[in-house]
Amino acid sequence: MARIPDSFIHDLLARTDIVELIGARVDLKRAGKEFKGLSPFTSEKSPSFFVSPQKQMFFDFSSGKNGTAISFLMEYDRLSFVEAVEELAKRAGVEVPREGGFDPRVVMDGPLDALAAAQRFFTERLRQAPPAIEYLKKRGVSGDTAKRYGIGFAPDNWDALTRFLHETQHALTAGLLIEREGRDGAYDRFRNRVMFPIRDTRGRVIAFGGRTLANDPAKYLNSPETPLFHKGRNLYGLYEARTATTGALPYLVVVEGYMDVVMLAQHGITQAVGTLGTATTREHVQLLFKSAPKIVFCFDGDRAGRSAAWRALEQVLPEMHEGREAVFMFMPEGEDPDTWVQKVGSEAFRAAIDEAAPLTQFLLDTLLKQVNLGSLEGRARLIALARPHVEKLPAGALRMLLIDELARRARLGRDDVEAMLGAPTAATAAVPVIAEPERPAPGAARPVRRAMQLLLERPEMAERVDNLDLLAQADAPGVEVLVEAIDFFHAHPEARAAQLVEAWKDTPKGRGVQKLLSMETPLVDETLESEFRDTIRLLTFRALESEANRLLEESRHRELTRAELGVIESLHRSRPPRSRR
Ligand code: UTP
Ligand code: MN
Repeated sequence: MARIPDSFIHDLLARTDIVELIGARVDLKRAGKEFKGLSPFTSEKSPSFFVSPQKQMFFDFSSGKNGTAISFLMEYDRLSFVEAVEELAKRAGVEVPREGGFDPRVVMDGPLDALAAAQRFFTERLRQAPPAIEYLKKRGVSGDTAKRYGIGFAPDNWDALTRFLHETQHALTAGLLIEREGRDGAYDRFRNRVMFPIRDTRGRVIAFGGRTLANDPAKYLNSPETPLFHKGRNLYGLYEARTATTGALPYLVVVEGYMDVVMLAQHGITQAVGTLGTATTREHVQLLFKSAPKIVFCFDGDRAGRSAAWRALEQVLPEMHEGREAVFMFMPEGEDPDTWVQKVGSEAFRAAIDEAAPLTQFLLDTLLKQVNLGSLEGRARLIALARPHVEKLPAGALRMLLIDELARRARLGRDDVEAMLGAPTAATAAVPVIAEPERPAPGAARPVRRAMQLLLERPEMAERVDNLDLLAQADAPGVEVLVEAIDFFHAHPEARAAQLVEAWKDTPKGRGVQKLLSMETPLVDETLESEFRDTIRLLTFRALESEANRLLEESRHRELTRAELGVIESLHRSRPPRSRR
């Protein structure tokens, strides 16, 4: 039989919510970060069956079984691997592609088709809806803009779209329709609303937002979370922004609303995207930096806008790698980008973008408001307040400049501030100078194993480890598997443990990972990241150590280069005190 491509299985797992899948079959209750229930595989009386949304895996301590959504279906519904994949694909509304079959196309006879049909329907209906056209005109939206953003209209009718679509299954999955309770059939989710299609980065409509024309208390209604659409992962207008101009985008402007995006574009600021009323997520930031090196956050000037900006700052800090930039601008009281650009025009808006406060300035200004630099306590407090934020910044010029500035404000020496803040992680440092590694806590697992456990819990931490070649040289058994895992999560930044497990299925390293996962290991949420960082730091130190030893050996036969001497030198500097004696 034709093979199912690994990439498809990978995406399918990303689209599946294991809690929902298992929750439909097993009674689950929330227990901390996980869900807990009675093992469906044994007849236990007290629950030892866990489902982890974080890892997208289940763990049954009663039967010893654990695995992904696929293995759950195989065990519980007694399906074959292919049948389980087909079952999940059916739920997600996608067709299983087969490699080497006679038709290699990925057939998407599913919710995407329903969404595309709905998009045609809404734009067509806009043409026949004078009140909706009137409304858009009143708000200043031109015909061209409406066309480019595919703006449409959902008629004031319970089943206009339902009747138009013929089929309901895919439309329900797509969130376009709502199931009638206790009865067959469905009805339209969006009624009497101006419709804004939300496209994915490939231009396919994956969701909608609709603005009421009546006085509906829900001014905007968005598609629910579906297998295709996740609010925290998609940005309104990104596709339009990327296709509006040719060549690389110098920056993207992040605004809150649909109308903000549309109206800025109409004024020639085509690179605006909307977070759809949700807080900016780390995934948003990653998505933004994939498209442009600079993010301009544009918020309302009120208190809500300020705190939304602060939340965005927290998400952006760990993503501030070399060469990236983030700035913050605020609208005058009572304005949003939509109204303000109409008032002042694009020139003034662009000028405001140019003058937006750099991230460090916004950070400092906000912190300075909370302290009194006139007192010693205030100056110490500034450093204490800054600490968690500075620590999130990757090593690099920005971090150094911020520390300089903090030192200046607190009237302390740079080195003192640095010491108070804690050194950056070795793996992200630009030069191979590494801080003294901390010894693992007593009783902690061996470092490779521990790093792996922590990584599987929070795969996004992989991103902060970038010197994999060096790490791989650490003299520690199994380090190559850890490096491969980090590499895997680099390549798939959104993946959870489940995807790694499926990708490595039936290999020795895969079995090792399974074994690790099935151990009950205490993990502390708050210290998880620092523990991971310290463990990687320790391993990197060991790698430097073995590299230096190799070089010392070499130096008996030949002269070392300056770079090679540098490695030995940096190791010497970072040697733990206990071995210096
Ligand atoms: P705003 O309330 O600022 O709306 O919400 P707006 O964009 O200025 O709306 P107009 O100008 O009155 O048309 C900003 C964004 O928050 C989301 C929408 O994405 C909106 O664009 N939102 C707002 C909702 O999802 N639901 C709501 O009820 C309100
Ligand atoms: Mn508005």
